[in-house]
Amino acid sequence: MKKIQLKDKVFETYLTAAQIQTRIQALGTQIDTDFAGQEVVLLGVLNGSFMVMADLVRAIHIPLTCEFLRISSYQGTQSTGKIETVFGIGQSMEGKNVIIVEDIVDTGTSMAFLTQFLAEQKPKRLAIATLLFKKEAFLHNYALDYVGFEIPNKFVVGFGLDYDGLGRNFPDIYQLSTL
Ligand code: IMP
Ligand code: MG
Repeated sequence: MKKIQLKDKVFETYLTAAQIQTRIQALGTQIDTDFAGQEVVLLGVLNGSFMVMADLVRAIHIPLTCEFLRISSYQGTQSTGKIETVFGIGQSMEGKNVIIVEDIVDTGTSMAFLTQFLAEQKPKRLAIATLLFKKEAFLHNYALDYVGFEIPNKFVVGFGLDYDGLGRNFPDIYQLSTL
């Protein structure tokens, strides 16, 4: 098992780049089927979603456009539970099929805030795609439409996910080592 260190923490291999690719391809196929004959907007939540976005859009073959926005609720490895304002969305989502793309849904508070924010713009359909889902940490009860992996409630890095800004560049995903 490969171990890596970021600042004061040690992480160990959890999901390989190949496993991640397989799931993202499957999610793309599902989206192609669910939105067949329609156009979608893939709305990536920065910074974490940039790698998922890059691979997911290439796994989708129906017409799509890409948008990005930014929110922030995390410091270190603990959610602060406080959501800052949304910014960066360049067009109205009214009447569009919008798929929000996240790297991870943890407590789900960020996504709850985002879905509420976007619902006000009256999209035709609003769906959620997330590579990772920490089911045990989830504090809400809305549905997640496209989930790559349900994972245990442990901090992870890599494939866009960071620990204090570091680790986003790893092609694999690593889990906080318990030792
Ligand atoms: P939530 O509002 O608790 O669902 O937190 C969502 C955001 O927190 C994600 O978009 C990530 O940016 C960050 N986050 C949550 N869990 C992790 C993790 O295990 N590693 C890195 N970032 C995380
Ligand atoms: Mg994020």
